[in-house]
Amino acid sequence: MIRDDIARVLISEEQIQRRISELAAQITEDYRDKEPILVCILKGAVLFYSDLTRRIDTHISMDFMSVSSYGDGTVSSGKLTIRQDLSKSVEGRHVIIVEDIVDSGRTLSLLKAHLAEKQAASVRICSLLDKPSRRLEGLDLPIDYKGFQVENEFVVGYGLDYAERYRNLPYVGVLKSEVYEN
Ligand code: PRP
Repeated sequence: MIRDDIARVLISEEQIQRRISELAAQITEDYRDKEPILVCILKGAVLFYSDLTRRIDTHISMDFMSVSSYGDGTVSSGKLTIRQDLSKSVEGRHVIIVEDIVDSGRTLSLLKAHLAEKQAASVRICSLLDKPSRRLEGLDLPIDYKGFQVENEFVVGYGLDYAERYRNLPYVGVLKSEVYEN
């Protein structure tokens, strides 16, 4: 059982689902008549995205992107690699980027700038988890819709992986150290 590899549950299935209902209600209210594009950042955001979007009660478009970022030091020294791009233009559209976690913040900063450059009408960020202790120094990255704040621990589940495993757990948990020490 994959659950045997989890030292402890950090955010339960019920907590996640309750918080998602709140975020979806907020997005529904904020974007009524705006028909935003919700961009799912693969792969980590997939479970969050599917639960969030089904609870939004106004028209939206769905699109998907796969990105990664490299670099050290500052965001300006970083580079965004687009592995899979959006299927349609964001020009003149309101965009909500849906992520599983904001860590250093590099990926989201670069992606936000990229979408602004593509003439999106607005770009906001919705992330299930926020790990502010890992943020690049001096980086100002507002997370407009935030699920939970987490400490600097190795978390897996509900989209988050360790070596591509554990994404399919319905909760967020902390991995037993022997799993990654072996
Ligand atoms: C993770 C996460 C964010 C990014 C956050 O993706 O989904 O995209 O890293 O890190 P940052 O704030 O330091 O930029 P990852 O590259 O692990 O891909 P995955 O979602 O496919 O697991």
